[in-house]
Amino acid sequence: MKKIKVALLGCGDRGCIYADYSLRNPDDMEIVAVVDNVPLKKETARVRYSLPESMAFDSVEDFIKAGVVCDIVIDATMDRAHYPTAMALLNAKYNVLLEKPVCPTKEELLDIQKAAHDNGCKVIVCHVLRYTPFYSAVKKVLAEGRIGRVRSLMLTEHVGMAHFIDSFVRGKWNNEEECGSGLLLAKCCHDMDLICWLNNETRPKFVTSMGFRENFTLDKAPEGATALCFDCPHEKTCNYSAVKIHLDRDTMPFQTWAGIGKPIDTITREEKIEYMKRSAYGKCAYNTGGDIVDNQNVIVAFENGAMGTLNLVGACAKAERFLHIVGTNGEIEGVFEHNEFTLRVFTREGRRYFYDTETVDTKEGAENGKHGGGDNEIMKHLVEYLRTGVPSLSLTSIDDSIEGHLCVYAAETARKEGRTVDLAEFRA
Ligand SMILES: NC(=O)c1ccc[n+]([C@@H]2O[C@H](COP(=O)([O-])OP(=O)(O)OC[C@H]3O[C@@H](n4cnc5c(N)ncnc54)[C@H](O)[C@@H]3O)[C@@H](O)[C@H]2O)c1
Repeated sequence: MKKIKVALLGCGDRGCIYADYSLRNPDDMEIVAVVDNVPLKKETARVRYSLPESMAFDSVEDFIKAGVVCDIVIDATMDRAHYPTAMALLNAKYNVLLEKPVCPTKEELLDIQKAAHDNGCKVIVCHVLRYTPFYSAVKKVLAEGRIGRVRSLMLTEHVGMAHFIDSFVRGKWNNEEECGSGLLLAKCCHDMDLICWLNNETRPKFVTSMGFRENFTLDKAPEGATALCFDCPHEKTCNYSAVKIHLDRDTMPFQTWAGIGKPIDTITREEKIEYMKRSAYGKCAYNTGGDIVDNQNVIVAFENGAMGTLNLVGACAKAERFLHIVGTNGEIEGVFEHNEFTLRVFTREGRRYFYDTETVDTKEGAENGKHGGGDNEIMKHLVEYLRTGVPSLSLTSIDDSIEGHLCVYAAETARKEGRTVDLAEFRA
């Protein structure tokens, strides 16, 4: 079987998660080049994937100039870098596995779609949830028509406390202008993708949304709260204490301490405290300078009359993605983190209508890495696709992948302008 040759652009947290598939499955995939504009990241990845110095590059331009031959490039740079790097790769005729979100604006998205078509290249977006045993099984039930035509999809994304505070209150996704993504794009382009993908026998038509930064605002801070948690009289009782979340519990070290620029296991407590004092990671959660929403709802109406809703809340006690899909012949209800769902299908036995109930267990494979197994599965599907040319149910074209993104842009326009958006406005 052909071994798939992959280049890695952006050797950070996500990029290495995907590239590490080659270390676990050396007969299926190999990393042939790495690219990163931070020397430490580039060098660490070069050593990790056992590459000669000639196969480690500082920029996508140098990589393209070198004419490296590979089946696909993983583009796992940060959100704002996706557009320039993906366009350069596509115009040089490389296939791209592109991290989500694809890019901050619909104009850039449609450009990427066009460049993929014009150059005859594949663009596969890292909507890793599609590949999880849970959502794959939900999709299979729908594709088999077991609950009939989808009438309603209700999804929630309750982002857990530590994740929300680390990434979206104090972290690199806390400011829409700086990172290019609001909360919906950064966190829930996955969920908007799911709404569109699970119901892709039709297309979204109207989108509306409301959302606010209603909790992490200065007026909600307890009286006498100070700018830094270290000095604050409420530090011991505040749920969002930086000392407790980042320093003592050290909930997301690979992210919190990335700005220090040293290997994580070599960073001392004193260096962490010093870093917290000069970065947002030590700041009062009500006063970080961030501006993204922490509470948002979206409604999508499809061309065939079906409806999808998303309830997004940041900093919840329990991180949970709930799903309830109602069809003409039954329904699906479950929680992603529980790795099982309930399937109810109408039956006509007897004189009254009844439904049969089945529990679908999706635990197998779900513990295999992050995102409920999705980070590993996407690479497995990708290798298979590049070998055979046959896409799996999860792995679909850029055209299918972008519907969810269009819904995100439309929802953000709807939220900011207080209106319902007709997606015809957003399509090319
Ligand atoms: N699929 C998911 O569920 C998921 C989860 C988290 C993050 N993400 C996305 O993954 C992407 C990467 O996030 P991360 O946390 O790994 O970030 P990161 O900062 O750890 O990694 C990004 C890497 O790209 C490098 N880089 C940036 N611009 C570059 C350029 N122009 N040329 C070469 N190298 C460049 C950086 O130096 C860094 O090493 C982001 O877009 C993020 O939103 C996706």
